[in-house]
Amino acid sequence: MTPAAFDAQAVRARFPALTGGADVEVALDNAATTHRPQAVLDALAHAYREHNANVHRANHRTARLATEGYERGRRAVARFLGAETGEVVFTRNATEAINLVARSFAEPRTGRHDVIAVSALEHHSNLVPWQQLCRRTGATLHVLPVDRDGLLVEPWSLPERTRLLALTRVSNALGSIVDTTAAVERAHSAGVPVLLDISQSVAHLPVDEGTRAADFLAFSAHKAYGPFGLGMLRGRAAHLAAMEPVSFGGEMVSAVHRDEATWQAPPLRFEAGTPPIAEAIAFVAALDLLEELTLPAIRAHELTLLQRLLDGVAGVEHVRVVGPPRAEQRSGALSLVIDGGDVAVAAGVLDLQGVAVRAGFHCAQPLLEELGCGPTLRASVAVYTSEQDIDALLEALPHAVAASR
Ligand code: ALA
Repeated sequence: MTPAAFDAQAVRARFPALTGGADVEVALDNAATTHRPQAVLDALAHAYREHNANVHRANHRTARLATEGYERGRRAVARFLGAETGEVVFTRNATEAINLVARSFAEPRTGRHDVIAVSALEHHSNLVPWQQLCRRTGATLHVLPVDRDGLLVEPWSLPERTRLLALTRVSNALGSIVDTTAAVERAHSAGVPVLLDISQSVAHLPVDEGTRAADFLAFSAHKAYGPFGLGMLRGRAAHLAAMEPVSFGGEMVSAVHRDEATWQAPPLRFEAGTPPIAEAIAFVAALDLLEELTLPAIRAHELTLLQRLLDGVAGVEHVRVVGPPRAEQRSGALSLVIDGGDVAVAAGVLDLQGVAVRAGFHCAQPLLEELGCGPTLRASVAVYTSEQDIDALLEALPHAVAASR
């Protein structure tokens, strides 16, 4: 049976921010954050209204409901990632998850003759924590280079004494897809643990076996139609069990005496203080949406949008696409520069036409500098993006380009 065509307009109708009529902008800044469907907003309101208590503390009815909802959220994330429930740590965002791995897993294993490896594609959140770790330990930061198309230069290898490889699955700035299955295999065959930042792929590409094989996965809920303020770290149980907490306070302790304290088992050991309770409860509704639409169908829809964008942009004078030339080498985003033009000005002109895109370094300044292109104008798609949205951008783009030069 042929699958039904992806109906982006029907999906869009489920997102209240996008259904306000003619004034609603053409939302093409989805790599920065996605919109939330009504189901997530309802679940958030319901959690605050009906389950408003702290978790893992009191034993009254509302507190039990809150704890059950929060732990149901953890189970849903675990199922989505193909992990065990105890392997999922809730954090504030992907950045906090990566910092936790840097401080608690990597740093105790890294000395001044050692190496931490990243790629040139990394978002600042998967680069700066490793720079800082290297400053503290004296270790060397090794950066896997990219080619002119923003793809990892193959074949790459890791230096001797690499203690961890931290790699994105998709570049947020360019949309380039990294073959993380091969990367994890290669790193593991050299005995190197791997952290994958899946923030930019989680709502766009299936979580395949290669992704699941990584030692750590990190992402933020708001990149996948979920609430702000909630991040996920999936760590292998054996790693989490060997890691010390880096943030201390309530909830993460099992017993506290005047001069000392002991810790809960993972994952609670890493969740000091009151966590994002309503957000974890509501994120289940976002995961339900991904499960209903299915990631292969979302991917197929987005590929048609990316192809339409690539084809359309090719006909616009003075515009140069940055990143991989073929749609299937990309996920989610397309970045471009304007010869002799200012992308910030172009984004401002597009905004006046009701088209929202992002201009700048996209928290990936070293990458754009290495490619010699500086800031870019980035259009990024989501489940509710339609061909009409792409056409609206393509129609407004020549004027924005002319105004920017
Ligand atoms: N990481 C976000 C972006 O790519 C903020 O725009």
